[in-house]
Amino acid sequence: MKLAVLAVSTLLFYIGLPHVASLAVMSVDLGSEWMKVGIVSPGVPMEIALNVESKRKSPAVISFRDNTRLFGEDAAAVGVKYPNKSFAYLLDLLGKSIDHPLVKLYQKRFPYYEIVPDKERDTIRFKLDEDTYFSPEELVAQILVKAKQFAEHGAQQPIKECVLTVPGYFNQIERKALLQAGELAGLKVLQLINDYTAVALNYGIFRSKTFNETTQYVMFYDMGAYSTSAVLIGYQTVKTKERGYPETHPQATVLGVGFDRTLGGLEIQLRLRDYLGKKFNEMKKTKTDVFTSPRAMAKLFKEAGRLKNVLSANAEHIAQVEGLLDDKDFKLLVKREEMEEMCKDLFERVKGPVQTALKTAHLTMDIVSQVVLVGAGTRVPKVQEVLQKYVKQDLAKNLNTDEAATMGAVYRAAELSTGFKVAKFITKDAVIYPVQVTFERPTEEGSVKQVKRTLFSLMNPYPSKKIITFNKYTSDFNFNVNYAELDYLPPNEVRYLGSARLSEFQLSGVSEALNKNSGKNAEPKGIKAHFQMNESGLLNLLNVELIVEKTILPEDETGTLSKIGSTFSKLFGGEEKPVEEKPTPETAEEKPVEEKAQEQPAEEKEDKPKQDQVKNETQKNETETAKETKPKVGTFKEPIKSTEHILTILPLDKKQMAEASEKIEKLNKLEADIKRRETAMNTLESFVIDIQNKLDEEDYKIAAKPEEVSKIKEACTEVANWLYEDGVDADTETYEKKLDELHALTRDLFSRVWEHRERPEAIKSLDTMLNHSSHFLNNAKNLTKKFNPQKDVFTEVEIETLHSLIVDTKQWKDKAANEQEKLGKSEPIKLTVKMVMDKIAALDREMKYLVNKLKFWKPRKVEKPVTEKPENGSDSSKKNESETTDSKDEVVIDVGGDEKEAEVTEDPNEADAKEDEHLEL
Ligand SMILES: *[C@@H]1O[C@H](CO)[C@@H](O)[C@H](O)[C@H]1NC(C)=O
Ligand SMILES: *[C@@H]1O[C@H](CO)[C@@H](O)[C@H](O)[C@H]1NC(C)=O
Ligand SMILES: *[C@@H]1O[C@H](CO)[C@@H](O)[C@H](O)[C@H]1NC(C)=O
Ligand SMILES: *[C@@H]1O[C@H](CO)[C@@H](O)[C@H](O)[C@H]1NC(C)=O
Ligand SMILES: *[C@@H]1O[C@H](CO)[C@@H](O)[C@H](O)[C@H]1NC(C)=O
Ligand SMILES: *[C@@H]1O[C@H](CO)[C@@H](O)[C@H](O)[C@H]1NC(C)=O
Ligand SMILES: *[C@@H]1O[C@H](CO)[C@@H](O)[C@H](O)[C@H]1NC(C)=O
Repeated sequence: MKLAVLAVSTLLFYIGLPHVASLAVMSVDLGSEWMKVGIVSPGVPMEIALNVESKRKSPAVISFRDNTRLFGEDAAAVGVKYPNKSFAYLLDLLGKSIDHPLVKLYQKRFPYYEIVPDKERDTIRFKLDEDTYFSPEELVAQILVKAKQFAEHGAQQPIKECVLTVPGYFNQIERKALLQAGELAGLKVLQLINDYTAVALNYGIFRSKTFNETTQYVMFYDMGAYSTSAVLIGYQTVKTKERGYPETHPQATVLGVGFDRTLGGLEIQLRLRDYLGKKFNEMKKTKTDVFTSPRAMAKLFKEAGRLKNVLSANAEHIAQVEGLLDDKDFKLLVKREEMEEMCKDLFERVKGPVQTALKTAHLTMDIVSQVVLVGAGTRVPKVQEVLQKYVKQDLAKNLNTDEAATMGAVYRAAELSTGFKVAKFITKDAVIYPVQVTFERPTEEGSVKQVKRTLFSLMNPYPSKKIITFNKYTSDFNFNVNYAELDYLPPNEVRYLGSARLSEFQLSGVSEALNKNSGKNAEPKGIKAHFQMNESGLLNLLNVELIVEKTILPEDETGTLSKIGSTFSKLFGGEEKPVEEKPTPETAEEKPVEEKAQEQPAEEKEDKPKQDQVKNETQKNETETAKETKPKVGTFKEPIKSTEHILTILPLDKKQMAEASEKIEKLNKLEADIKRRETAMNTLESFVIDIQNKLDEEDYKIAAKPEEVSKIKEACTEVANWLYEDGVDADTETYEKKLDELHALTRDLFSRVWEHRERPEAIKSLDTMLNHSSHFLNNAKNLTKKFNPQKDVFTEVEIETLHSLIVDTKQWKDKAANEQEKLGKSEPIKLTVKMVMDKIAALDREMKYLVNKLKFWKPRKVEKPVTEKPENGSDSSKKNESETTDSKDEVVIDVGGDEKEAEVTEDPNEADAKEDEHLEL
C-alpha cells in the first residue's frame, strides 16, 4: 500500500498540467481472470479506477440470466449456480477456431459450456440459449464496456480513448480480435501494449534517474492465471534528435521473451478442483458422480481457488463445501505438499520461459541484475523456490505486481492522447513470431522457384517499417505472408499459435504500370512493398509501388519525357497544367527511396541486387555518365494495387461489426434501464422515509397545517405499503410517477419551511446592501456640481435616483417584513426570498453604475461640458456601458461594499491612480 501511494505522488511530477480542453484517458489491463482499469484526467495524477464495489480490480467475468447482465463478483456468483450462464477466462479464446488446441483445452476445463463453430469466420461462439450466441469478441467487448463505466465514474467525465494491454504472445488474429472488441465497447484504442512492455515501462518510469548509457538488464517473470512469461529488458539512456536538438531519454528495450501459454494459477486451481472431486467421489456420500454436475463442479472450482491461495501462505487447510451434491457436504484437509505433488510437472515448467528469454536475447543469467516477480501466480511458494534455484539470485518482489501493467498502459495512454504532457520514456518491443514473405519466381530455365524472404526476424525491434523489392516481375503476381522460423519455440507453443499462414496478397496492374513508365531513359527499379509492424504489434502492408528511374534530358521534348518535363516544371513553380499521369518525381540524387524504416531488411537489400537486379554494371556506368552530363534523374513511383486474402481466421467484417455493435448496444440499454428502475425505486423509497422523518422536525411541524400533515402521512404510508407489496415488480415509470405525486403533495410545505429558514438571511443581506448604499450616497452627494465643481462626478438626477431607491426599498422591506411576521408559519408566504433578492439586485445594479462612473471619471476639459444623464443610466461612455451591462448579468447575493466605500472616501489622487492602472490594461 505504501508503495502505491509513493507511486502516485511520484507520478505527479511526470504528468504536467494538461491543456484546457484535454480529456481523460484510460487503460485496461484485461487478464484472463482479472480486469484493472487506469485513468488519468486533467489535473489528477494517474490512478486506478475503482469498480462499483470500490475495489481496485474486478473478476473478468460476465453473466446473463433473466435478462440481466452482470459483471465481476456478481457474475461470478451467478456462475456458481448457473455455470453455463457465466463466462470467464475469455481473453485466450479470441481469434481461434473450434479445433484450436486452446479451445479444446477450454472445453475440457469447463465442460458445461456449449461452444459452437462460427463457420463464416472459422471462429467460435458460446451458446447461451436457443436464440442467443456470443462470440468471444462480443463478450470481451462487454467486459470493456464495464471498464469504460468505471473509468468514467472515476474521472467524472466521458472517456473514449484507451490503451489496452495484450498478452505479448498474442498473434495477429488475436490482436485484431481484441482491437475489435475495444471498438465494439465504444472505445478508441490508441494502442495495444504488450503486458510485459507495460510492466517494464512502469518499472522504468520510477527508476529513470538511475539509467545511463550502460545497459542494465532486468528480467520480469510474470505468472498469471492463464499463462507465464519471462522477459528480459534492457534499460539505458539514448540520445535522440527528434525535435532538432539533442535530448537524452530513458529507454526500455525488449531483448528476450519466453512464455508458456498454459502454465498459470488456473491450471493449479483446476487440478485442485479435480482432486477435490475425486476425493468426494471416493467418500461415496452419494451415488451421483460429482464430475457430472456442472453446479457441483463450479462450487469445487471456487473452493479450489480459495484453497490455492490459502495454501500459498499456510501448510495445510480444510477445503469445505456445504451441500456440494445431493445435499451432501464436503470437507477435506489438504496439505501444501499434496498440492505441490499434484502440480509437480507444472513446477518443472517454471524455468522454461526464463531459458527461452535468455536464448532469444543471446544473453546469460549472470548479466541480469534483477529478476522481478509479477503476477499472482508468483506468490505460490514453490514457484518462487524453483525459480530462485534456477536464476541463482534473490527475487525482487518490490513491484506492485497487480497494477504495474495497468499503470504502464495508462502512462502510454497519457502520452498518446493530446492533452497531457508526459516525460518521454521510449519502449522498443520485439517481434517474437518472425514473419516471412514467400513468392514464386520464374527462373532463367523457364520453371518457377519458391522464394522465401524474412521480413521481420526474431527479436526485430518494432514499431518499424520494412520494404521488400521484387525485381523480376513484369506482370501481375502474388506473394504470401507467413509466420516462420518458429523452431525456437516448444512444439506446444507453435500449435497454440494457430495457422502459420497469414495472408496472400495479389498485385495487379503491374504490366500496365511498367508500360506507362517505359522508354529509352526509363529504368524500372523493381516493385517495392512497404510493410509496417505498428505500435500495436500488427502487421500492415502500407502500399506497393513500382519504382522507375528516369533520366530527363531538358531538350528532349518527345513522348513520355515531355510529360515528365511538365511535371517537373510544375514542381518548380511552372505552369499549372493538369498532368494526366500519376508519376511523381522525386529529387532522386539525394534520397533514393523514402524510407522511414528504423531498420531495413538487410538481407533483402543485399540479396536482391545479386539475384534480381535487371541491369548490370555496364548499364550502371552508363547511367552515371548520363547523370554527369544531364544531371536530372527522377525516381518515379507508380502505385500498384494490392488485394489481401486472409488465409486464417477472419476479423469481423463491417456488417458483422455493425450487428455485434447493435446487439451490445441493446444489452447496454437493457442494463441501463434496469439500473434506472432500481434508482427510481430507491429514490422513491428513501423519499418516503425522508418525508416521514421531516414531519417530526420542529420546522416542519410549525409550517404545516394539520390536514396537510395527515394527507402527506397517508400518502406516504400508502406508497410505503405499495412498495413492499405490489410495487416490488413495478416499472420505472410507475416509480417515477409516484415520486412526482409525492413531490407535488409536499412541495408547498417544503417551500414554506425553506422560506422561513432562508428569509432572515436574505433580509440581513438587504440591510447590509442598504447600509452600503446609504453610506455611498452620503459621500456621493459631495461629488456633484453643487458641492464640488472640480470633481462633479454625479448629476443631481443620479443622486436623486439612488436616494429614492434606498428610501423606497427600506419602506418596502419594513412593510413586507412586518406583514409576513404577522402571518402564521403555515400560511402561504407573502414575502418570498426571491422578492428580497430582486430588491438587492436592483440596488446593486444602480450602485455598480455609479461606482463605475466614479472609477472612470476624468477631470473635464474646460470647454467640454459633461452630458447630463436623465436616469439610472444606460447611457454613458462606451466603456461604462459595457461594464454596466456585464454586471447586470451577474447574480449578486451579497454586497461586500468595501470596495465602493473606499473609492469615494479616498482622495482624488488615489482615484486617478486607479484610473491610470485601468488604462494600462
Ligand atoms: C445450461 O445448463 C442447463 C442446466 O444444466 C441446461 O439445461 C442448458 O441446456 C444449458 N444450456 C446450454 C446452452 O448449454
Ligand atoms: C495498427 O494496425 C492495425 C491494423 O491495421 C490498426 O487497426 C491499428 O489502428 C494500428 N495501430 C496503431 C497504434 O497504429
Ligand atoms: C551507470 O550506472 C551504473 C549503476 O547505476 C554505474 O555503475 C556506472 O558507472 C554508470 N556508468 C556511467 C558511464 O556513468
Ligand atoms: C550487361 O548488359 C549488356 C547488355 O545489356 C551485356 O551485353 C553485357 O554482357 C552485360 N554484362 C554483364 C557483366 O552481365
Ligand atoms: C565504370 O567505368 C569506369 C570507366 O569509365 C571503370 O573504371 C569502372 O570500373 C566502372 N565501374 C564499375 C563499377 O564497373
Ligand atoms: C446598518 O447600519 C446601522 C447603523 O449605521 C447598524 O445599526 C446596522 O447594524 C447596520 N446593519 C447591517 C446589516 O450592517
Ligand atoms: C463634503 O464636502 C464638504 C466640503 O468639501 C466637507 O466639509 C464635508 O465633510 C464633506 N462631507 C462628506 C460626507 O465627506
